[in-house]
Amino acid sequence: MGMLGGFAAMLLVPLLSGLANASPDLGLDISIDYVTQNNPNVLSSANMVGSATSDLQGAIGGFQISRFNGSTSLIVSGEALVSLVGNITVNVNEVLRNISVVASQRQTAPSCMFGSMNSTIDRAFVALDQAGSLISRIQTSTSALNSDALTSWLMMIQTAMQDVTTYLDTLYKEVSAVLAAGPLSSSTVTTNIKPATLFNLAGAISVVTTAEKGLVTTVRSIRTAFEQANNILQTYSNDLTNAVTAVNNTQRDYYNQVVSRINSYQGKVTSETGSAISDITNTLSRLNPFIQDSVTRTNAQSLNATITTTTTSITTNANIFRNNLQSQMTQLYTAAEGFVQYNVKALIPLIDSSTFKLATTMSVGGINANSCRDRYGGAITNLENNMREQLQRCFNDYANTGYTDSFISEYNQVIREQTRSIANRINFCLGLGSTTSTNIIKAGISRCLSETVALAQTLMNDVGFQTKLVVAMINLESLATVQRVESCSAIMNHGLVAKATTLDTLLATCQTTNQ
Ligand SMILES: *[C@@H]1O[C@H](CO)[C@@H](O)[C@H](O)[C@H]1NC(C)=O
Ligand SMILES: *[C@@H]1O[C@H](CO)[C@@H](O)[C@H](O)[C@H]1NC(C)=O
Ligand SMILES: *[C@@H]1O[C@H](CO)[C@@H](O)[C@H](O)[C@H]1NC(C)=O
Ligand SMILES: *[C@@H]1O[C@H](CO)[C@@H](O)[C@H](O)[C@H]1NC(C)=O
Ligand SMILES: *[C@@H]1O[C@H](CO)[C@@H](O)[C@H](O)[C@H]1NC(C)=O
Ligand SMILES: *[C@@H]1O[C@H](CO)[C@@H](O)[C@H](O)[C@H]1NC(C)=O
Repeated sequence: MGMLGGFAAMLLVPLLSGLANASPDLGLDISIDYVTQNNPNVLSSANMVGSATSDLQGAIGGFQISRFNGSTSLIVSGEALVSLVGNITVNVNEVLRNISVVASQRQTAPSCMFGSMNSTIDRAFVALDQAGSLISRIQTSTSALNSDALTSWLMMIQTAMQDVTTYLDTLYKEVSAVLAAGPLSSSTVTTNIKPATLFNLAGAISVVTTAEKGLVTTVRSIRTAFEQANNILQTYSNDLTNAVTAVNNTQRDYYNQVVSRINSYQGKVTSETGSAISDITNTLSRLNPFIQDSVTRTNAQSLNATITTTTTSITTNANIFRNNLQSQMTQLYTAAEGFVQYNVKALIPLIDSSTFKLATTMSVGGINANSCRDRYGGAITNLENNMREQLQRCFNDYANTGYTDSFISEYNQVIREQTRSIANRINFCLGLGSTTSTNIIKAGISRCLSETVALAQTLMNDVGFQTKLVVAMINLESLATVQRVESCSAIMNHGLVAKATTLDTLLATCQTTNQ
């Protein structure tokens, strides 16, 4: 467009000569050589700003800055790149757009037109002054080659913009001199406005747009490297999330296992004690007549009372067992979950850090990037897989609630046997005769009932003791389980931390020496 403009202007030169007031160049009602006509001219140089701007915007357009954990410096670098391009296309290029307007249009008096440009120029220099710090933010995630290229394009733009302001200043003085020289004419223009000022201005503007075209290539290559790094972060981040989810699924399975064991153990003891209580209370109807009989009354009443205390005691012990089982196994789950999650949380930043180092290797580009990725990318996947598999093993092998099966079923057996003995003994006594038997036989039954009272107390003492024992064993086994999970996850953590640290070192070396 600029080239065509220049070409068209050249053809128009013969037509325009002698025609006054054809164009309000520099806000003066006259066409001026090297402003809008002839070659080079300020207008066509300034008009290159359109394609320079759109090329730069194209280089950064649609660039998505991903926000992965651990990738803070890549995020900062990406944002700095977008800001740098924005400041050039908006602030610096506004000066060139202003020049294009001043060159070819007359909106207000020249003093106002030039005056309004001064604030635009100020904003452009503020932006250029900030470019250095933006470049150093970009530098942390890109190659020396790219950041050197950025620096030199920016220096070129800055120097050329200084020239642009110098020549604009001179030009403004020359335009003021034209206005001071009386009525506007070709001769007041040629006397006061030097072609060199216009050549130099057009040239300095061209340097700005040329540097911007160069900048497009550099911005594209930095963007590509950032995107490559983001792809890596994306891949490993997804893998890491999947690994954490898999650990959590195992944890959920384990939770379900704990809950179903609690239910099953509680269900068994509830059914055993239920049968025991009904075995014993079923004897009451047969005991009743002996309570009415004067020979057996005292001991039968005493047994009647013992049956009540025995069944109450069975229920009490079963409740102690059920409540302790519930709270111990819930605590066991909470502690195991705590250790596993603690290690997941401790490992995630390490894996993130390795991933980020690999991403940085890719982002700074250079000859080693792809080979470092080939060499160590798999190691990050292994870290993630190892974390998943080893934590799963900690749950499955070391937190297996099946270890409590044997002593809990022994306990159930004890309750069943002891209580069955009591019921059997009562039935035995009641089978010795009836209330119509001889007094000698009834005296024997009475004595038998009295011994059963003593037996029931002894056996229930034993059930009480066994209950305390099984509760203590559940406590100890829970503690042991938690300690097994703790040491399993600590050992795993230790190993993975060591691997991640080694990997970090290897990646750093690979980045610089490809070793
Ligand atoms: C210019 O850079 C600054 C940071 O130095 C940034 O905050 C601002 O958004 C940028 N301007 C544009 C138009 O991108
Ligand atoms: C220069 O640009 C600024 C900002 O867009 C605008 O306000 C001003 O009118 C422009 N001046 C000229 C002479 O075009
Ligand atoms: C613009 O600023 C320059 C330098 O600060 C000054 O010399 C010049 O007179 C200003 N131009 C106008 C039109 O105000
Ligand atoms: C990323 O960090 C956030 C907050 O620090 C955390 O909640 C999240 O689990 C992390 N995700 C991954 C995949 O590391
Ligand atoms: C995994 O489970 C823990 C609680 O145990 C929870 O805080 C975390 O958000 C879960 N993570 C994922 C990825 O599901
Ligand atoms: C048996 O004992 C229970 C509870 O102590 C009591 O309520 C009941 O009256 C007794 N039966 C007889 C026949 O004394």
